[in-house]
Amino acid sequence: MKSNIVLCGFMGCGKSTIGRALAEKLNMRLIDTDAYIEKKEGMKISEIFSSKGEEYFRNAELEACRELADIKNCIISTGGGTLLKDENVTEIKKGGTVFFLNISPQTVLMRLRHDTTRPLLQRKDKEKAVNELMDQRMPLYRKAADYIVSAEEPPRKVCAKIISIYNGGKNV
Ligand code: S3P
Repeated sequence: MKSNIVLCGFMGCGKSTIGRALAEKLNMRLIDTDAYIEKKEGMKISEIFSSKGEEYFRNAELEACRELADIKNCIISTGGGTLLKDENVTEIKKGGTVFFLNISPQTVLMRLRHDTTRPLLQRKDKEKAVNELMDQRMPLYRKAADYIVSAEEPPRKVCAKIISIYNGGKNV
């Protein structure tokens, strides 16, 4: 098992919440790629999208993955689009084991019904946006994953499952 725990999955799957819980329980540093990019750019993700565009943000994600390739003993919580590109996956996997937090479109819609921070979901028909994006992305998350964990359960349980895999090397 590589030393970093990398969390990936669709918006709303709980990457940040579970990342924080894992960092606390395992006494490891948490790096959230969105927060990392926001700090570097001095702007919120939504501002980066609106003022510089999605492509700029995607390049910033690649840069972040490159910069984080050599880091050790961290929890890395990625953005929902970060591990869709092969190159990003290759970089992040140099030091990390990837856990894909799997949830249904219905759960995403329920959890993010009041969200205004995700530029990709600020559409009239949120349901259509979620379904389309998930259809495209699901095979890529699966491909990036070393382990697939259901994130429908409470964060405490998801966290415990990841820790047992990380410590024991068991598959799920
Ligand atoms: C994105 C997910 C967001 C953020 C950006 C783009 C995506 O992160 O990186 O809005 O393409 O799915 P979260 O998954 O943490 O919401």
